[in-house]
Amino acid sequence: MIRDSWSARLPAVVCGVLLNAVLPAASLAAEGEASAAEPVRSADWLAALPEGDTRRKVVLGCTPCHQMGPPIALRNSLEDWKTVIGRMKKIDHDLDLALIRMEADELAEWLTKNARMPEQGFAIATAKADIREYPAGSGKGFYHDMTVTAGKAWIADYFGNKLYGIDTKSGAVETFDIPVDVPPGKPGGAHQIDITRSGELWITFTKSEQVIRFDTTTREFKVYSGFEKGANVQYFVVDADRYIYEDPQGGIFMTHFSREIISRLDPKTGEIKVYHTTRTADMEEKGVHLYAAVADSKGRLWYTETHGNRFGMLDPQTGETFEKDMVEKWVGPKRLAIDKDDVLWIPELASGKITVYDTRAAKVVDRLTLPIPGDFPYAIRRNRYTGDLWVTGSGSDSLYRLDPKTKQFSVYRLPRQGAYTRTVSFTEDGDIWTCYASFPNAHTIKPYDNGVVVRLRPQ
Ligand code: HEC
Repeated sequence: MIRDSWSARLPAVVCGVLLNAVLPAASLAAEGEASAAEPVRSADWLAALPEGDTRRKVVLGCTPCHQMGPPIALRNSLEDWKTVIGRMKKIDHDLDLALIRMEADELAEWLTKNARMPEQGFAIATAKADIREYPAGSGKGFYHDMTVTAGKAWIADYFGNKLYGIDTKSGAVETFDIPVDVPPGKPGGAHQIDITRSGELWITFTKSEQVIRFDTTTREFKVYSGFEKGANVQYFVVDADRYIYEDPQGGIFMTHFSREIISRLDPKTGEIKVYHTTRTADMEEKGVHLYAAVADSKGRLWYTETHGNRFGMLDPQTGETFEKDMVEKWVGPKRLAIDKDDVLWIPELASGKITVYDTRAAKVVDRLTLPIPGDFPYAIRRNRYTGDLWVTGSGSDSLYRLDPKTKQFSVYRLPRQGAYTRTVSFTEDGDIWTCYASFPNAHTIKPYDNGVVVRLRPQ
């Protein structure tokens, strides 16, 4: 339930154009208890599909860009499903992502037969929070990630090649053109944004195949090129404190979406070194999707392969590498976190579970289930100030706080339907940050034609 009257602020949105710098960002308070009639959300719609390999493949293929089912991504007839899935396959192909593995007709038939709209959404007690939204950037943009540093929240537009710095107090927005190496009008593919321990902002560019550093003080960009062609620079290896991991020589590492490699960049010299991870047999390399990675206390890198359905280790000091299967098929390990005891917390996109793997004991020590059925957790991030883990409830318009000791979840509901999130950031004052990261942006139902950063203040 939403208490504060954001509708009273609606007149501020004129023809969908919001004057960010002069208007206060909308502030909303999320109520504490479960609402009697919850709207049907994406997770509810997915939970109503028969469990099994096909449902998992639907989640793996259809939720990487937007939620599936309500509020937007649903059809009723076979013909309509066929048409839309054909279009989705083209978008997937044009962006060279290899996400959708199912044959269009077969999937259309399966969805027509099995998809149904539940009468109401799953009701669950939610924790209280004061929520503030900060609109920034074009509504046509795609804002995959966000982070907070130097008093600003930062988002970058995958298509528009712009960086937005949003003042966390005033909501004022500063815009920067990112010097990516792409022809005019083409996407640089801004993907992950994170910071190093010293607060420098770094962004990966999947399409221009570059990595860029932005100095928030001098406002200068430094561009690094020379990564493997066609490999899609994807994700910086982060540490237990959710900073970009720097090895003792100052090197940083990044994964590539389309290759089973991890690169090391020396930010001083620009030198790039490529490490090969274990080849996942029976799957073309481009489709494995080596996605996220974290570094343990010894500097070993642990990564997930979302479609490959494995997680693995690469030790850059020795070149040793191995992989392990997830405990079930097609669960889709995604953006994992690591804690100070070198335990991995691996979100399973397609099963709504979390594999807890102790790297020191070399065994799976737990497998947790998210409290909302049908939800697909894109990411787990560890709050460096409290040690709590935050999980994106990417299909339930929520964020979960997971206490790593008691393994209890608290649910914080975001105030919009279609609120698809992929990351969580933290500030010292206890605030929790995310952004609406749906592609297309318009699949999040909101009163702004913009990207949106969200600040959640647990009460
Ligand atoms: C690579 C990103 C991507 C993937 C993967 C993806 N979609 Fe989409 N989807 C989009 C975009 C972009 C739009 C809006 C443009 C459009 O409708 O063509 C969209 C829109 C939709 C819509 C709404 C169409 C409308 O007219 O409002 C449906 C339904 C949909 N997708 C279903 C699916 C299904 C089913 C899958 C999996 C087979 C899927 N999507 C996978 C990007 C994606």
